Amino acid sequence: MQARPGESLEVLLPEADIQARVRALGEQISQDYEGKPLLLVGILRGSFVFLGDLIRCVDGLMAVDFMAISSYGASTQSSGVVRILKDLDEELQNRHVVVVEDIVDTGLTLNYIYSQLVARGAASVAICTLLDKPTRRRVDVHIDYLGFQIPDEFVVGYGLDFDEYYRNLPNVCRLKIHRPSKEANG
Ligand code: IMP
Ligand code: MG
Repeated sequence: MQARPGESLEVLLPEADIQARVRALGEQISQDYEGKPLLLVGILRGSFVFLGDLIRCVDGLMAVDFMAISSYGASTQSSGVVRILKDLDEELQNRHVVVVEDIVDTGLTLNYIYSQLVARGAASVAICTLLDKPTRRRVDVHIDYLGFQIPDEFVVGYGLDFDEYYRNLPNVCRLKIHRPSKEANG
């Protein structure tokens, strides 16, 4: 995969490893929610690739909805400001919800979403994230379903972006930035 000038990519999680892990997560969710219709809530935009693969590995009744939250934009540092850009269309009362996220970093995003969904009367709210960067956590987040724990490095691919690029990579890659103006935190 070609990187932009001043940037380079190094595979961290190969496609086959991701696919195997996603299948295992899907099987685990299928077992845990057997007989309980699910609402999967994807957090846009980073989770859409993961969510697309995950739902095809979950057996059972489910609905899918999306939320969009303000993100880093073209910076790799979290502003700490969380804002809903697109809210759910579904009602949550008495529903079993699994939030699907690409990566938990500071935890600010999921901490906010979790409390929002609980406050709206969901019967249960679980969190499923493909990646976890625990070293940068600022608020506690309980992760029910985890794909991979990764070191404190900025990653792209499999839905994750930098400046909206690289979401289409089938692997998760480290992004190295050689320009002096934009620094990755890895
Ligand atoms: P948190 O609120 O700091 O946990 O931020 C989570 C969000 O930041 C994720 O949903 C991503 O959109 C973004 N993010 C955090 N780390 C990375 C990364 O390494 N690559 C791409 N996006 C990231
Ligand atoms: Mg995100």
